[in-house]
Amino acid sequence: MRILITGAAGFIGSSLAKRAVAEGHSVIGVDNLITGNRENLAAIDAAIDFRVADIRNREQMQELCRGVEIIFHEAALPSVPKSVLDPLTSHEHNVEGTVSVLLAAKEQKVRRVVYAASSSAYGESPTLPKHEAMIPAPISPYAVQKLTGEYYMQSFQRVYGMETVCLRYFNVFGPFQAADSPYSGVLAKFITSLLQGEAPTIFGDGQQSRDFTYIDNVVDANFLAATAPADVVSGKVYNLACGERHSLLDTFRILAEMTGFAGAPVFGAARNGDILHSLADISLIAREMGYQPQVNFEEGLRRTVAWYAEALKMQTPLSI
Ligand code: UD1
Repeated sequence: MRILITGAAGFIGSSLAKRAVAEGHSVIGVDNLITGNRENLAAIDAAIDFRVADIRNREQMQELCRGVEIIFHEAALPSVPKSVLDPLTSHEHNVEGTVSVLLAAKEQKVRRVVYAASSSAYGESPTLPKHEAMIPAPISPYAVQKLTGEYYMQSFQRVYGMETVCLRYFNVFGPFQAADSPYSGVLAKFITSLLQGEAPTIFGDGQQSRDFTYIDNVVDANFLAATAPADVVSGKVYNLACGERHSLLDTFRILAEMTGFAGAPVFGAARNGDILHSLADISLIAREMGYQPQVNFEEGLRRTVAWYAEALKMQTPLSI
């Protein structure tokens, strides 16, 4: 297949690109390198057609979509707190960027777009686990933007007959995730602090929990979403997670043991608008796509710790 990956130099985009190349697909990657890092693609440099471009550039997107069968749309400004500080900029990337990708896909007759949606769409509704039939209740601008992207996917499916699939990612972690920005995912921050002998900061009391999902499971699900029969999956939204939740306190304990850190965490103020618990019902994606998480939480943590340990030794830049 000819596959276009937006956000190809980011954590999730580059992981998808590596799998796509390994499976022998023809891969085009696009990234504006605002949060992406070209180094993430070093291992497949010669095998991927990589372009530095912004997804909002309609002309460039049209050109990149020519002959493409599947788009994995991962490009976004992926941060809740960043969207709170500057909602307009994240709107431009996350909503206008998504519409631009869809328009180019439509004009070039791309068969299917698989979209990186977000569990943040569920907001603070207390019901657990979260299932797709629940009414969304986004809180942050980021959550609104990602949910708007889902609605655009469904609209393009309904009005233009394009195949679209939305995957609501729940707290993805793993190798190549950015670690050194204040907006980095919590596990990337915890692991790199612990490996450097520094106490990580827990925002709040650490009782909050997440359905942490190892990157390989996310890659598996994207390929299932790309190939599943259209009459089953097109126009739909699926949770993509492990179906287990772990508190930050428990996660800290497991990671301290894995990294040999003997100290205690530092506790800071709870983050404004933070959601307390997040857990996915993954029965729909299991039933309709045959998805099962292949790498569980602890194994994912082990692999991630090993990767950051190596990256820190090699002084690999961790800023993406
Ligand atoms: C949210 C979304 C997720 C989205 C992501 C993008 C939910 C449930 N999840 O993740 O779908 O992809 O934003 O950024 O809405 N924390 C600390 N110390 C730190 C950093 C974070 O204690 O140094 C805490 C946070 O307060 C939070 C938890 O760890 O309680 C997870 O935070 P983070 O990794 O930023 O992700 P979410 O905000 O859950």
